Amino acid sequence: MVPVVDLSRRGQRLAGAFGDAARRIAASGSFLLGAETSAFEREFSAWLIVPDAVAVSSGASALQLALAALGVGPGDEVIVPAFTAVPTASAVCAVGAVPVLVDVEAETANLDGALIESARTERTKAVIVVHLYGRPADVPVTDLLVIEDAAQAHGSVGSQGRSAAVAYSFYPTKNLGGIGDGGAVVVADPELGAAVRRLRVHGMTELYVHEDISQNFRMSEVEAAWLRLALPTLRDDNRRRADIAARYREAAPHLRWPAPHPDHVYHQCVVRASDRTAFRARLAELGVGTGVHYPLAVTQQPGYQHFARTECPQAVAWAAECVSLPCFPELTDTEVDHVAQSLAGMSQ
Ligand SMILES: Cc1ncc(COP(=O)(O)O)c(C=O)c1O
Repeated sequence: MVPVVDLSRRGQRLAGAFGDAARRIAASGSFLLGAETSAFEREFSAWLIVPDAVAVSSGASALQLALAALGVGPGDEVIVPAFTAVPTASAVCAVGAVPVLVDVEAETANLDGALIESARTERTKAVIVVHLYGRPADVPVTDLLVIEDAAQAHGSVGSQGRSAAVAYSFYPTKNLGGIGDGGAVVVADPELGAAVRRLRVHGMTELYVHEDISQNFRMSEVEAAWLRLALPTLRDDNRRRADIAARYREAAPHLRWPAPHPDHVYHQCVVRASDRTAFRARLAELGVGTGVHYPLAVTQQPGYQHFARTECPQAVAWAAECVSLPCFPELTDTEVDHVAQSLAGMSQ
């Protein structure tokens, strides 16, 4: 079976160098917010060509701290796409604000910017655009605060400076995936960077002096060391993902693919199938593993449906039809050919 993802292959690639790094950290006695985290922040921001990146404990905390540092809180509303990973919306709840769920585009699965104005109220403070599956979403031109959720889009966005903050996740399956949880907030404004750094350590400005109420959102040194080892191949890894997706699309042009984009980094390579169960079962018979990201729109999630204010038919359709195909850099050419040939013989 060609796996939809196999992290052990990345693990084997990095294991040797990681062993050396782990021993170095153990001997240093500096386990949190030390030399590895600072070096990772410098290297990741240089890689993205952005002024600053603050390493934090997860993608969800990156979104939460970006919102908090920008002053979003109780009484505010934040526009969020109705089709995304739930943490995009839960981060809004975590700062005490209300997520307002807005439909996505049929062609891209990204936020439909044309719907922002009608979703807006006098309480709306911000909008989060999600670059879902690694495909760059349009960053809206608006007087609202804009935050980009680039959890799935390392390298396809982040250097344009058109938003107040960009949040990344280093969850292990991500294009830049950690050995545990991790995230980063990218900012251009130094004051905002200082606020995120303060909020990630209990709102502390100097030892045991707490200016803000916050909790612990630190990244571990071990995670930072792993990410530093993975970063140098990220550009090539992204290219490999895009090549794999291109191969599938060329082999099966009759299937329903999202609109392409030259900067898509294919965190997921997704195709739509009207009868998803049958489509996945047939691929499984052919030895092709698949996934579903995500089976429910946020408006359909038991814990979040009370936030729905309007119908979001495109989000519901994406949730019903999306199928994620094997697409990770360590796939062999033989595996890629096998998936491509299997797709060529599939019906919609
Ligand atoms: C679009 C999106 N936003 C936010 C997150 C949250 O990231 P994490 O799992 O690192 O908290 C994820 C990952 O699950 C994601 O895919």
